[in-house]
Amino acid sequence: FVVDWDPGDAEKGGYDHFMMKEMMEQPKAMNDAITGRCSGNSVSFSGLHLDSEMMKHINRIQIVACGTAYHAGMVGKYYFEKFARVSVEIEAASEYRYKNPIVDKNTLLIVISQSGETADTLAAIRLAKDKGAWVLAVTNVVGSSIAREAQDVIYTNAGPEIAVASTKAYVTQVGCMLLLASYLGQLNGKLGKNDAARLCHGLSITSGLIETVLDNQDKIKKFADANHEIYDLFYLGRGLDYCTCLEGSLKLKEISYIHSEAYAAGELKHGPIALIDEGTIVVAVCTQEHVFEKMLSNIKEVKARGAYVLAIVQQAHEEIASEVDEVWTIPNMDDDITPIPTVVYLQLLAYYLAVARDCDVDKPKNLAKSVTVE
Ligand code: G6P
Repeated sequence: FVVDWDPGDAEKGGYDHFMMKEMMEQPKAMNDAITGRCSGNSVSFSGLHLDSEMMKHINRIQIVACGTAYHAGMVGKYYFEKFARVSVEIEAASEYRYKNPIVDKNTLLIVISQSGETADTLAAIRLAKDKGAWVLAVTNVVGSSIAREAQDVIYTNAGPEIAVASTKAYVTQVGCMLLLASYLGQLNGKLGKNDAARLCHGLSITSGLIETVLDNQDKIKKFADANHEIYDLFYLGRGLDYCTCLEGSLKLKEISYIHSEAYAAGELKHGPIALIDEGTIVVAVCTQEHVFEKMLSNIKEVKARGAYVLAIVQQAHEEIASEVDEVWTIPNMDDDITPIPTVVYLQLLAYYLAVARDCDVDKPKNLAKSVTVE
């Protein structure tokens, strides 16, 4: 009696793809990312050298990363500016390293990298360190080159990620950005009185929020099966939702090879609206209360041109159903936490569209998990 088995399949833990396994692991990964870092009403990172004395001399924060990690950095920029009230520049590592950036001993460079081995990100660290900057790395791989070369390291604790398309690493990067924003705000005294407690509470329930999205796979699959022949897709959002849109759009391109664009919804009228036609699918991410009405106007603009609109909202805004073609909801939550559960919808959408199109989800053409050469 011979059992036919493939060690690769065994490692997928019963799922068809590593990507699905890793998406399902996100609730645990989120918990592991925050464990030990939130205590009551403050945030701390064990072993971090960056302290309030050093923070006094920091007058510039730069974030540098590539791909999905860059999108986590964009979310980070919103968080740092909101909670630590410092202005933040963000740049792709491949741009930063070739442009003689303004960086000195008063600069804090934050690099984000799942693998810790991306060549451009590593080169950015070396350049900034040479000019005296303090480098803090947020990475998933213990002992990686980036972890070794940075002066401070925050591990995302997502566990090994095999699928080329990053999922669980991304949500933990976003979680770490929020923790780090609170931490910097504590150091420089800019964090609001109750913010650390509020954000820690928000983060402590994200694993359950992710689970509610993971429980909605039937309707995502149904949507993907009905629409897998589309040739492009638009994502619209404002603020934090805009960052989520960029990540959703990247995920879709990577694994399903469907062209897509992500726009800050206010930019719509400056060009992209010309591309909206009868039946064009627009994913409108509207989880941010302070710009909800603005999103509604943008939705009306694309509906007027015949778009099919799929809206993602917090439950409290379910009534948006009368304005759009389909609604996916996340539970009601703190607006600062929404990027984490919301992106899971977009990951699953990309996944099911890729599966419906018979794509090699775990090993998309032309892509590598870790880009260690230029
Ligand atoms: C490659 C991967 C992406 C990843 C990017 C940055 O392009 O395919 O999924 O986001 O590299 O990788 P890093 O390991 O630095 O986060």
